[in-house]
Amino acid sequence: MAIQETTEVDGLSVPEQVSLTTGAGFWQTVEAGDIPSITMADGPHGLRKQTAATDNLGISKSEPATCFPPAVGLGQTWDHSLAQRVGAALAEEAQAADVSLVLGPGINIKRDPRCGRNFEYFSEDPLLSGAMGSAWVQGLQSRGVGASLKHFALNNQEHDRMRISSDVDDRTMREIYLRAFEQVVRDAQPWTVMCSYNRVNGVHAAQNHWLLTEVLRDEWGFEGAVVSDWGAVVDKVASIAAGLDLQMPGPDRDADAAVTAAVERSELDAAALARTATRITELARRAAQAKRAGVRVNFNAHHSLAREAAAAAVVLLKNERALLPLRPTGAIAVIGEFATEPRYQAGGSSHVNPTRVDVALDEIRAQAPRAQITFSAGFSTRAGDAEALRAEAVRHARDADTAVVFLGLSAAQESEGFDRDHIDLPADQLELLRAVLEVQPDTVVVLSHGGVVRLSNGVVSAPAVLDGALLGQAGGGAIADVLFGHVNPSGRLTESVPERIEDVPAWLSFPGERGSVRYAEGLHVGYRWYDARDMSVTFPFGHGLSYTTFDYSDLAVAADDEGITVTVTVTNSGGRAGREVVQIYTALPESEITRAVRELKGFTAVHLAAGERRTVEIRIARREIATWDTRVDAWSVEGGTYDVHVGASSRDIRLSASVKVDGDDVFVPLTLESSFAEVAAHPMAGPAIEAKLKEAGLGDTSSGSDELGMDVAKMAASIPLGRYLGQGTTGMTREFIEAVLAKANRG
Ligand code: GLC
Repeated sequence: MAIQETTEVDGLSVPEQVSLTTGAGFWQTVEAGDIPSITMADGPHGLRKQTAATDNLGISKSEPATCFPPAVGLGQTWDHSLAQRVGAALAEEAQAADVSLVLGPGINIKRDPRCGRNFEYFSEDPLLSGAMGSAWVQGLQSRGVGASLKHFALNNQEHDRMRISSDVDDRTMREIYLRAFEQVVRDAQPWTVMCSYNRVNGVHAAQNHWLLTEVLRDEWGFEGAVVSDWGAVVDKVASIAAGLDLQMPGPDRDADAAVTAAVERSELDAAALARTATRITELARRAAQAKRAGVRVNFNAHHSLAREAAAAAVVLLKNERALLPLRPTGAIAVIGEFATEPRYQAGGSSHVNPTRVDVALDEIRAQAPRAQITFSAGFSTRAGDAEALRAEAVRHARDADTAVVFLGLSAAQESEGFDRDHIDLPADQLELLRAVLEVQPDTVVVLSHGGVVRLSNGVVSAPAVLDGALLGQAGGGAIADVLFGHVNPSGRLTESVPERIEDVPAWLSFPGERGSVRYAEGLHVGYRWYDARDMSVTFPFGHGLSYTTFDYSDLAVAADDEGITVTVTVTNSGGRAGREVVQIYTALPESEITRAVRELKGFTAVHLAAGERRTVEIRIARREIATWDTRVDAWSVEGGTYDVHVGASSRDIRLSASVKVDGDDVFVPLTLESSFAEVAAHPMAGPAIEAKLKEAGLGDTSSGSDELGMDVAKMAASIPLGRYLGQGTTGMTREFIEAVLAKANRG
């Protein structure tokens, strides 16, 4: 690709240009001449600005900041505007802290529930991940602070993350693992993209020219700078040649010397270095211009926003006998360590030092001042007498009208840097719940976890279950808001809940071995897998109940050159206001290629008062129903009759309709490697080959040879044409075949 001729750094020497390509420290870029240094900081759900000791694992202290719901929670809101508002609030705090770049959002696909960082990612589905990621980036950048879209790409586990090669086929790469990144780059143009630690099909992301230049820039039109993950650069010269712009952290004198020497020896194109230095210069200038001095953060308002986001993130998984919402009276036994020691975020570089933390027990007490509320830990994530803790909890539960049991994963069980090796809740918690359910039928379970946990072995027996994922510092208040009905839950699962870990798509290939992890399940990640295998799950992707009910009617679907338009009427048929997330899935049952049974292609949320109805319209752009055509390495839409499903989850399909979509004309040149069947199907080449075979007395291959009872045409169908060249009997010389192919390809 022609490299820009004139750059902004023409006036700088090679060493000065090289200095721009490496961090000045852990969080700053270099200042060079009138090019300012800029400061960056983690992290996706709260600012982690360190002013003393620095690290990229959340070990050393950071400045107090609002801890919003991590992506696992924010994702469950399925609410673009809320994600935008959180991004904007984060930017305010970044501006006030003189931070120009916030290192997020993390939008890697949740390939396997055991991945230690799934709490930092939005979903198992690329469309939902891309939509939430775009909104977050737009919100952040609207306030003059840049994003760093991460981790590009295929960083879907923590095990051996700095060396392992994510090995995946082209369609799966494009349609699942790159799709969300493409959507965010096209929709939100993040100031930076952070390349990941891992290799992609054998080549480190940090020096993967195909990924960083051919795809990210040439195809998607990315205009910003590529920043390495911290310590991801292995060969700086190769990285700059591939399209990496900023190695973090710095300084790295050896790497800089190697780059300078490579340019001087013409082993690295000076223009490539100049291009990289220019991008860093443009980033620094852009950040400097967008700086706003004197920003004063209203941390109370941000806490309220965190609480609103947290409440919207809560998923009502079960609610038998309308046990929820609770009345704020009577005897309520609050059980579980997490009711007093909230689990609201997880470990690693995203770890925030919160401005304050709501404690669920206190919030429950505040919202039910007339209730008789008891508390018992029930279990301990530290040492403790499990028997005694459980006995006390059972006693409280038995003596109460209702029990609210807080269960989940401890901070030690999930974090950046390592994966889980199972998805079960701790045995002592399951034993506690079993014992409580025995004495108290009116039991509500509240879950706190980053990665999915198995619910089929106990939790699902409770009559009411709230999935609180990880909700950030205001989660305790949000849970109380939902428990007592001040907020009608509207969250939806963004990740399937499997019956058992052995059912998950990557069961046989995660986390890989000896430097390679094969994405053997291909396209069938998450619900795509369970649907293709017609497997039961405890709760499906997109699931979430409400304190009211919604009916769907009047579905209309129309296709045009731009895509598919879906209109449907939603009615709040229950007794209170609520929010419904209307989900659109498409399918092409008669497809000629491998496909998921149905895929999320659009969604919208609608707030309705009791009895209110509204018709909503959802546009599915034509590109959304395209698949990656490996015959021509491009997106193409397959023609056919598509099923359009409108659902309250991926498995709660309320209405369906079909619509015919014209396919793209994909020109696939015929070559000597084209099969006999492919050539026979060509309107011109087919008859020509058929005639030649007849001349050679091979007659009509479409019928089997009687005495042998074989179907010759079927046997010959997949033989590449060029293999006939050696068989003189066919009369098909190379000249003849090449003439036929040339004529066919001319069209
Ligand atoms: C970490 C993470 C990345 C983070 C960076 C800086 O290792 O992988 O998400 O932004 O380093 O802390």
